Amino acid sequence: MSQNSDTAQDAGPQDGLQGGPTGPNHVAIIMDGNGRWAQRRGQPRLFGHRAGARRVREIVRACPDLGVKYVTIFAFSTENWKRTQTEVSGLMTLFRHYIKKETRALHDEGVRVRFIGDRVRLDAKLVKLMDELEAHTSANTKVNLTIALNYGGRDEVARATQRLAQDVADGRLDPADVGEETLPKYLDTCVLPDPDLVIRTSGEARISNFLLWQSAYAEYEFIETLWPDFTDEIFANLVKNYAGRDRRFGGVKT
Ligand code: IPE
Ligand code: IPE
Ligand code: MG
Repeated sequence: MSQNSDTAQDAGPQDGLQGGPTGPNHVAIIMDGNGRWAQRRGQPRLFGHRAGARRVREIVRACPDLGVKYVTIFAFSTENWKRTQTEVSGLMTLFRHYIKKETRALHDEGVRVRFIGDRVRLDAKLVKLMDELEAHTSANTKVNLTIALNYGGRDEVARATQRLAQDVADGRLDPADVGEETLPKYLDTCVLPDPDLVIRTSGEARISNFLLWQSAYAEYEFIETLWPDFTDEIFANLVKNYAGRDRRFGGVKT
């Protein structure tokens, strides 16, 4: 299996041949620590979110040289609605501004942008911008950037199961044919390969409902750096570390 596959078909299910002394094809990042970064500077949490958003461009730009074809970032979880109204609405405004401001640069750099997560609860203006950005960049192939917005792994599996059940009810799917390969086709990530490496910043060693199904065999890096301090150099080192990992996928080293 190619590490630099262009299509999800090429990326395919894990067959035990992936990994080894090559770099990760798909890196997923839990961008955590914006709030603490701001608090340490005596600033409001949104100051940290704005600083965090500015880090994304450098990381996406670093991907081609590192051989990373897919990068997926966790921007807002289904649980983040629990935050104050000020923080939530500030984040939603930031997402709108971010899309408007970054569209040209992302397109010029050959980045294809996709969003995963439930759009139903999002503001119509934001959803329109998301749709436009996806359409505008849909022919790009250099890097695939996926932004998880109102995303939760359990929510995604629940929504996928609902659609799967509907297909059974409508006679399009035979329950006897449901196997391990069936559910991924209904997930928001259906066109993406599974992540090879998941990075979480800010020192928390948990995955907070991110890509639950897809990360079954991912390698993990939990690092202390707060997201607004994350650099392309740190990113390159984590990608390099990955090359030393022995991914066995349940098998035995030969
Ligand atoms: C991550 O930073 C960004 C979002 C969850 C939107 P946090 O806002 O969680 O920052 P900390 O964890 O409170 O420092
Ligand atoms: C995970 O961070 C979600 C995002 C980075 C968007 P959180 O800060 O929401 O996670 P917990 O609350 O520490 O688990
Ligand atoms: Mg956090």
